[in-house]
Amino acid sequence: MIVAIDGPAGAGKSTVAKILARRLGFLYIDTGAMYRALTLKALDNGVDINDEARINELALNTNIDLRSNTDGSLSVLLDGEDVSLEIRKPRITQYVSDVSKIKEVREVLVGMQRKLGEKGDCVLEGRDIGTVVFPDAQKKFFIDASAAVRVNRRFKELKGLNQDVAEADVAKDLSNRDKIDSTRQVSPLRKAEDAIYIDTSSLSIEEVVQKMLEFCK
Ligand code: DC
Repeated sequence: MIVAIDGPAGAGKSTVAKILARRLGFLYIDTGAMYRALTLKALDNGVDINDEARINELALNTNIDLRSNTDGSLSVLLDGEDVSLEIRKPRITQYVSDVSKIKEVREVLVGMQRKLGEKGDCVLEGRDIGTVVFPDAQKKFFIDASAAVRVNRRFKELKGLNQDVAEADVAKDLSNRDKIDSTRQVSPLRKAEDAIYIDTSSLSIEEVVQKMLEFCK
Protein backbone atom coordinates (compact mmCIF):
# COMPACT_ATOMS: atom_id res chain seq x y z
CA MET A 1 0.00 0.00 0.00
CA ILE A 2 1.18 3.52 -0.78
CA VAL A 3 0.39 6.38 1.62
CA ALA A 4 0.99 9.78 -0.01
CA ILE A 5 1.51 12.85 2.17
CA ASP A 6 1.80 16.32 0.68
CA GLY A 7 1.73 19.84 2.07
CA PRO A 8 3.74 23.04 2.49
CA ALA A 9 7.01 23.37 4.42
CA GLY A 10 6.70 23.33 8.20
CA ALA A 11 3.21 21.82 8.32
CA GLY A 12 4.52 18.80 10.25
CA LYS A 13 4.58 16.31 7.37
CA SER A 14 7.95 14.75 8.22
CA THR A 15 7.13 14.31 11.88
CA VAL A 16 3.82 12.57 11.30
CA ALA A 17 4.98 10.65 8.23
CA LYS A 18 7.86 9.10 10.17
CA ILE A 19 5.61 8.06 13.08
CA LEU A 20 2.87 6.80 10.78
CA ALA A 21 5.36 4.69 8.80
CA ARG A 22 6.75 3.18 11.98
CA ARG A 23 3.31 2.33 13.38
CA LEU A 24 2.19 0.79 10.10
CA GLY A 25 5.51 -1.02 9.64
CA PHE A 26 5.96 0.74 6.28
CA LEU A 27 9.06 2.19 4.66
CA TYR A 28 9.38 5.98 5.05
CA ILE A 29 10.47 8.00 2.02
CA ASP A 30 11.28 11.70 2.41
CA THR A 31 11.31 13.00 -1.18
CA GLY A 32 12.28 16.55 -0.12
CA ALA A 33 15.53 15.08 1.20
CA MET A 34 16.30 13.88 -2.32
CA TYR A 35 15.90 17.39 -3.82
CA ARG A 36 18.04 18.68 -0.95
CA ALA A 37 20.78 16.12 -1.64
CA LEU A 38 20.96 17.13 -5.30
CA THR A 39 21.10 20.81 -4.30
CA LEU A 40 24.02 19.99 -2.00
CA LYS A 41 25.87 18.24 -4.81
CA ALA A 42 25.31 21.20 -7.15
CA LEU A 43 26.59 23.73 -4.60
CA ASP A 44 29.59 21.61 -3.61
CA ASN A 45 30.53 21.22 -7.26
CA GLY A 46 30.32 24.96 -7.87
CA VAL A 47 27.42 24.54 -10.29
CA ASP A 48 25.37 27.69 -10.86
CA ILE A 49 21.86 26.97 -9.56
CA ASN A 50 20.41 28.72 -12.63
CA ASP A 51 22.40 26.55 -15.03
CA GLU A 52 19.61 24.06 -15.73
CA ALA A 53 21.58 22.03 -18.27
CA ARG A 54 24.39 21.32 -15.79
CA ILE A 55 21.99 20.55 -12.98
CA ASN A 56 20.12 18.10 -15.21
CA GLU A 57 23.38 16.42 -16.10
CA LEU A 58 24.26 16.22 -12.42
CA ALA A 59 20.86 14.67 -11.62
CA LEU A 60 21.42 11.96 -14.24
CA ASN A 61 24.80 11.12 -12.70
CA THR A 62 23.82 11.09 -9.06
CA ASN A 63 22.86 8.27 -6.79
CA ILE A 64 20.55 9.14 -3.88
CA ASP A 65 19.55 6.48 -1.42
CA LEU A 66 17.43 6.58 1.72
CA ARG A 67 18.08 4.24 4.60
CA SER A 68 15.82 3.72 7.62
CA ASN A 69 17.66 3.35 10.92
CA THR A 70 16.50 1.25 13.84
CA ASP A 71 15.89 4.40 15.95
CA GLY A 72 13.32 5.58 13.38
CA SER A 73 15.58 8.21 11.80
CA LEU A 74 16.37 8.31 8.11
CA SER A 75 19.85 8.47 6.58
CA VAL A 76 20.25 10.20 3.25
CA LEU A 77 23.11 8.87 1.14
CA LEU A 78 24.45 11.01 -1.68
CA ASP A 79 26.68 8.90 -3.92
CA GLY A 80 27.25 6.67 -0.90
CA GLU A 81 28.07 9.47 1.55
CA ASP A 82 25.81 10.23 4.52
CA VAL A 83 24.58 13.83 4.09
CA SER A 84 21.61 13.66 6.47
CA LEU A 85 22.70 16.67 8.55
CA GLU A 86 24.28 18.75 5.82
CA ILE A 87 21.09 18.88 3.71
CA ARG A 88 19.17 20.60 6.55
CA LYS A 89 21.50 23.61 6.59
CA PRO A 90 20.26 27.06 5.50
CA ARG A 91 22.54 27.17 2.45
CA ILE A 92 20.63 24.17 1.06
CA THR A 93 17.19 25.35 2.13
CA GLN A 94 17.86 28.64 0.39
CA TYR A 95 18.34 27.04 -3.06
CA VAL A 96 16.37 23.80 -2.99
CA SER A 97 13.17 25.27 -4.44
CA ASP A 98 15.12 26.61 -7.43
CA VAL A 99 16.60 23.17 -8.11
CA SER A 100 13.29 21.36 -7.61
CA LYS A 101 11.40 23.52 -10.08
CA ILE A 102 13.48 22.21 -13.01
CA LYS A 103 11.40 19.85 -15.17
CA GLU A 104 14.15 17.35 -16.06
CA VAL A 105 15.36 17.21 -12.45
CA ARG A 106 11.85 16.29 -11.38
CA GLU A 107 11.62 13.57 -14.02
CA VAL A 108 14.83 11.95 -12.76
CA LEU A 109 13.95 12.18 -9.07
CA VAL A 110 10.33 11.10 -9.58
CA GLY A 111 11.72 8.02 -11.37
CA MET A 112 13.90 7.25 -8.32
CA GLN A 113 10.94 7.81 -5.97
CA ARG A 114 8.70 5.44 -7.94
CA LYS A 115 11.40 2.78 -7.84
CA LEU A 116 11.74 3.14 -4.07
CA GLY A 117 7.95 3.09 -3.65
CA GLU A 118 7.57 -0.04 -5.71
CA LYS A 119 9.66 -1.99 -3.19
CA GLY A 120 6.58 -2.49 -1.01
CA ASP A 121 4.36 -0.76 1.54
CA CYS A 122 5.51 2.78 2.12
CA VAL A 123 4.71 6.27 3.28
CA LEU A 124 6.01 8.93 0.90
CA GLU A 125 6.15 12.58 1.84
CA GLY A 126 6.61 15.60 -0.44
CA ARG A 127 4.77 18.14 -2.57
CA ASP A 128 3.55 16.12 -5.56
CA ILE A 129 3.21 12.56 -4.26
CA GLY A 130 -0.57 12.28 -4.51
CA THR A 131 -0.80 14.30 -7.73
CA VAL A 132 2.19 13.10 -9.78
CA VAL A 133 4.48 10.48 -8.22
CA PHE A 134 1.75 8.05 -7.11
CA PRO A 135 -1.61 9.43 -8.34
CA ASP A 136 -3.15 6.00 -7.65
CA ALA A 137 -1.95 5.87 -4.03
CA GLN A 138 -4.49 4.11 -1.83
CA LYS A 139 -4.34 6.80 0.86
CA LYS A 140 -3.60 10.47 0.32
CA PHE A 141 -3.24 13.25 2.85
CA PHE A 142 -2.68 16.98 2.53
CA ILE A 143 -1.14 18.27 5.75
CA ASP A 144 -1.44 22.00 6.31
CA ALA A 145 -1.10 24.61 9.09
CA SER A 146 -1.31 28.40 9.35
CA ALA A 147 1.75 30.35 8.22
CA ALA A 148 2.49 31.55 11.78
CA VAL A 149 2.40 28.01 13.17
CA ARG A 150 4.59 26.68 10.38
CA VAL A 151 7.22 29.39 10.92
CA ASN A 152 7.25 28.72 14.66
CA ARG A 153 7.60 24.95 14.20
CA ARG A 154 10.41 25.24 11.66
CA PHE A 155 12.20 27.77 13.88
CA LYS A 156 12.09 25.40 16.87
CA GLU A 157 13.20 22.48 14.72
CA LEU A 158 16.26 24.40 13.47
CA LYS A 159 17.11 25.54 16.99
CA GLY A 160 16.92 21.89 18.02
CA LEU A 161 19.52 21.15 15.34
CA ASN A 162 21.71 23.86 16.92
CA GLN A 163 21.37 26.15 13.95
CA ASP A 164 21.80 29.83 14.62
CA VAL A 165 18.76 31.28 12.83
CA ALA A 166 16.47 34.26 13.38
CA GLU A 167 12.72 33.65 13.32
CA ALA A 168 12.28 36.49 10.80
CA ASP A 169 14.65 34.72 8.39
CA VAL A 170 12.76 31.44 8.79
CA ALA A 171 9.54 33.33 7.96
CA LYS A 172 11.10 34.87 4.87
CA ASP A 173 12.45 31.51 3.70
CA LEU A 174 9.13 29.69 4.20
CA SER A 175 7.14 32.32 2.37
CA ASN A 176 9.66 32.36 -0.48
CA ARG A 177 9.60 28.56 -0.80
CA ASP A 178 5.80 28.41 -0.56
CA LYS A 179 5.62 30.84 -3.44
CA ILE A 180 8.09 28.99 -5.67
CA ASP A 181 6.73 25.51 -4.77
CA SER A 182 3.09 26.39 -5.41
CA THR A 183 3.47 28.57 -8.50
CA ARG A 184 6.09 26.59 -10.47
CA GLN A 185 5.03 25.27 -13.87
CA VAL A 186 5.89 21.63 -13.26
CA SER A 187 4.05 19.71 -10.53
CA PRO A 188 3.19 22.67 -8.29
CA LEU A 189 2.22 21.96 -4.71
CA ARG A 190 -1.52 21.33 -4.62
CA LYS A 191 -3.93 19.05 -2.87
CA ALA A 192 -4.98 15.99 -4.89
CA GLU A 193 -8.76 15.97 -5.27
CA ASP A 194 -9.04 12.71 -3.35
CA ALA A 195 -6.62 13.69 -0.56
CA ILE A 196 -7.80 14.05 3.02
CA TYR A 197 -7.10 17.60 4.21
CA ILE A 198 -5.81 17.99 7.78
CA ASP A 199 -5.13 21.40 9.32
CA THR A 200 -2.62 20.65 12.09
CA SER A 201 -2.45 24.22 13.49
CA SER A 202 -4.18 23.35 16.73
CA LEU A 203 -3.61 19.59 16.83
CA SER A 204 -0.90 17.67 18.66
CA ILE A 205 1.36 15.30 16.75
CA GLU A 206 -0.45 12.32 18.30
CA GLU A 207 -3.86 13.70 17.29
CA VAL A 208 -2.75 14.05 13.69
CA VAL A 209 -1.23 10.56 13.64
CA GLN A 210 -4.41 9.06 15.14
CA LYS A 211 -6.56 10.74 12.50
CA MET A 212 -4.31 9.40 9.76
CA LEU A 213 -4.25 5.90 11.24
CA GLU A 214 -8.04 5.85 11.33
CA PHE A 215 -8.16 6.64 7.61
CA CYS A 216 -5.52 4.01 6.87
CA LYS A 217 -7.35 1.19 8.62
O1 DC B 1 10.11 18.96 2.51
P1 DC B 1 11.39 19.77 2.36
O2 DC B 1 11.30 21.14 2.96
O3 DC B 1 12.60 19.06 2.81
O4 DC B 1 11.53 19.98 0.78
C1 DC B 1 12.57 20.74 0.23
C2 DC B 1 12.14 21.34 -1.10
O5 DC B 1 12.03 20.32 -2.08
C3 DC B 1 10.81 22.06 -1.07
O6 DC B 1 10.98 23.45 -0.93
C4 DC B 1 10.19 21.74 -2.40
C5 DC B 1 10.93 20.56 -2.93
N1 DC B 1 10.13 19.35 -3.05
C6 DC B 1 9.45 19.16 -4.21
O7 DC B 1 9.45 20.03 -5.07
N2 DC B 1 8.77 17.99 -4.41
C7 DC B 1 8.74 17.05 -3.47
N3 DC B 1 8.08 15.91 -3.71
C8 DC B 1 9.43 17.25 -2.25
C9 DC B 1 10.11 18.43 -2.06
